[in-house]
Amino acid sequence: MQNLMVTGGAGFIGSNFTRYMLEKYPNYHVVVYDKLTYAGNLDNLKDVAENFPGRYAFVKGDICDADTVRETIHAHDVDTIVNFAAETHVDRSIMNPDAFIQTDVYGTYVLLEAARELELERYHQISTDEVYGHVPEGASRETDPVAPRSPYAASKTSGDLMVNAYHVTYDLPVTITRGANNIGPYQYPEKVVPLFVTNALDDVPLPLYGDGLQMRDYQYVVDHCEAIDLVLHKGQIGETYNVGTGSEMCNIDMTHLVLELLGKPESLIQPVRDRLGHDRRYSLDVRKICRLGWEPVHSCAEAIEKTVRWYVDNEWWWRPIKSGEHYQAYYKQQYEGREIE
Ligand code: NAD
Ligand code: TYD
Repeated sequence: MQNLMVTGGAGFIGSNFTRYMLEKYPNYHVVVYDKLTYAGNLDNLKDVAENFPGRYAFVKGDICDADTVRETIHAHDVDTIVNFAAETHVDRSIMNPDAFIQTDVYGTYVLLEAARELELERYHQISTDEVYGHVPEGASRETDPVAPRSPYAASKTSGDLMVNAYHVTYDLPVTITRGANNIGPYQYPEKVVPLFVTNALDDVPLPLYGDGLQMRDYQYVVDHCEAIDLVLHKGQIGETYNVGTGSEMCNIDMTHLVLELLGKPESLIQPVRDRLGHDRRYSLDVRKICRLGWEPVHSCAEAIEKTVRWYVDNEWWWRPIKSGEHYQAYYKQQYEGREIE
């Protein structure tokens, strides 16, 4: 394994993973294959393009486009696909699920077919804790039944099921990781932590859904990248591994911490109408990946602290996104008139 195709590599986690792998393995080559949707951004890979000119390449392409996927695999002698490409935001999946079905389900199938036909060494699927659905108590294990509840979660679950089917049916060498909520550098400011940090920096209200008591495991993105690396090299073929800190924080506590770190007042918190079908809690049992030799470095609070610092220091990255037409229209559609007293 040394020629990776990182699909969705111009997004948040994929760009962090590309940087991590090129820094760690001097003999690896990475071709990022990305459609550059609203969430894909070559600014995320600016330093990578500068620092690794001979070992990094970018191809603009859709994972649903079988011909371009195959051409890219041939042209770059790809032996491994790591699939991050997806529509990823639950609220957008509630507004319009179509692209989620296309990319997260059909696109996954197209990549699997290419991996099978071209006999790649490995296909790795990046999945999510959301496939387990709302977890009222305890923690989800990899063997638990999946019970997705949002269109996003259902599309990601369908992708996972197809990955497993290709392993069982065609003996395709696959692995899957299911990550908790990632935070860190280059996360599009629609997800709650970068949204709240950047709003607070501008003294704009923080739209907190419902009672704010929903629980999430906020994990630092580089910890997640380490886990994916470990599974690629030491994971067992056909297996799925949960990746999270194993701890959790409710949204209201996360919000207070963000405001405290920025020295901003709590009066910025604006309760808004809850998300439809909102999963109140996710929780992952991470003992399986820990047995493989991994452990999370950052707690949720440490991850939030580092993330806040990055957004404070990197206005060049997020200001153009937030002032752009696409973001402004999305924000209006998503939040206008949603306030509750
Ligand atoms: P992101 O939205 O930041 O990036 C997604 C990337 O995929 C973008 O660069 C986009 O241009 C690209 N893309 C979308 N559709 C495509 C298509 N049809 N063809 C090619 N490229 C396409 O997402 P992220 O937060 O980095 O998430 C990456 C992966 O990790 C996703 O599969 C997601 O489900 C999973 N995941 C995310 C989290 C999280 O907290 N962000 C947690 C667990 C799992
Ligand atoms: P999000 O970042 O969208 O991730 P996910 O729903 O995939 O876990 O949301 C994280 C939590 O924050 C979730 O409980 C919903 C909540 N949330 C808000 O309270 N306000 C917001 O504006 C957003 C985007 C999310």
